[in-house]
Amino acid sequence: MKGLVLSGGKGTRLRPITYTSAKQLVPVGNKPVLFRVIEAIRDAGIGDIGIVIGDTGDEIRAAVGNGRRWGVQITYIEQDAPLGLAHAVKISHDFIGDDRFVMFLGDNCIQGGISPLIQQFGHSDFNAQVVLKQVADPRSFGVAELDENGRIERLVEKPRDPQSDLALVGVYMFDHHIFEAVHSITPSLRGELEITDAIQWLITSGYQVFPYIHDGWWIDTGKKDDMLEANRLVLEEMQPVVHGYVDRDSNLIGKVIVEAGAEIINSTIRGPAIIGEQTRILNAYVGPFTSIYHHCLIEDSEVEHSIVLEHSTIRGMPARIEDSLIGRNVTVTRSPLKPKAYRLLIGDNSTVGVL
Ligand code: TTP
Repeated sequence: MKGLVLSGGKGTRLRPITYTSAKQLVPVGNKPVLFRVIEAIRDAGIGDIGIVIGDTGDEIRAAVGNGRRWGVQITYIEQDAPLGLAHAVKISHDFIGDDRFVMFLGDNCIQGGISPLIQQFGHSDFNAQVVLKQVADPRSFGVAELDENGRIERLVEKPRDPQSDLALVGVYMFDHHIFEAVHSITPSLRGELEITDAIQWLITSGYQVFPYIHDGWWIDTGKKDDMLEANRLVLEEMQPVVHGYVDRDSNLIGKVIVEAGAEIINSTIRGPAIIGEQTRILNAYVGPFTSIYHHCLIEDSEVEHSIVLEHSTIRGMPARIEDSLIGRNVTVTRSPLKPKAYRLLIGDNSTVGVL
């Protein structure tokens, strides 16, 4: 089997972060979501992985490389424009050939990896198997309706009156018949070749399409709050370890990871939380569900339930920062200048909440 990871796309829901970088490289628990996807595929025994890339392809190539770090071989597949998930499959035909494959959205996180589902599909003669998850409100998802034999009978995108609570989670397994499907369908109203249309084509054409019901958590990290939720869930599963320096005036409570070269001085870290390499936490409080990436400075400030990306500084904040996703090379600080005023240099599509 082969692996196909989709890491192109527009990333409009995660602007302004995605103006300058790929959303798949935003870390949860201080590891990019895309690296977690590659590891999940590798851990399922698949060593031949194609990554579909778009505008942010150079950054993804630089971060992932040839895959040797994970003991896998990576092939990059360039998509000229984000014309849909089924379009991404279409342009991957040369890489996939006649093999069976798993397709994984590069911005999705799934609990417990994908080994059980790969095993089931590998031992079956199904033409496709789609990972589904029970959700509370199916109206904002693509959902699958099953027939009495347990096969998928119909896929419905964002149903107003859902007949099923089983949502598609962004992991799909296919055999080569999917290529007939992606060549047979036409673009949807939003101008994309939809993977749901391709799967529906398989069903209508009499191919065997089965569900795999996943009962752990699954998060599509396409928006800020989902990214924070994935970070929370991943941190809860990590084991505490201290590789950096923690002085005697500091207090680590609960599951805290301090990476190599990090320094915690006169501060309290309440886990689950992770402090990245070469980051300094000085006279500060870092609260639960927070990931501070490498080379950051948090000084005289409090941060909770947030992700802070590399090389950023938070200093002298008069109130706690919460529920925030802070980009790279950002400075958030109290202005010493008079008259007292907010002085902002903020990119397009940013959100700032002041007291
Ligand atoms: P989406 O999150 O559905 O789309 P998007 O990345 O364009 O984001 P937004 O809706 O916020 O504008 O994409 C899911 C994954 O698939 C993501 O990792 C990007 C990738 N993708 C491609 O590789 N090619 C494509 O044509 C599309 C639409 C998505």
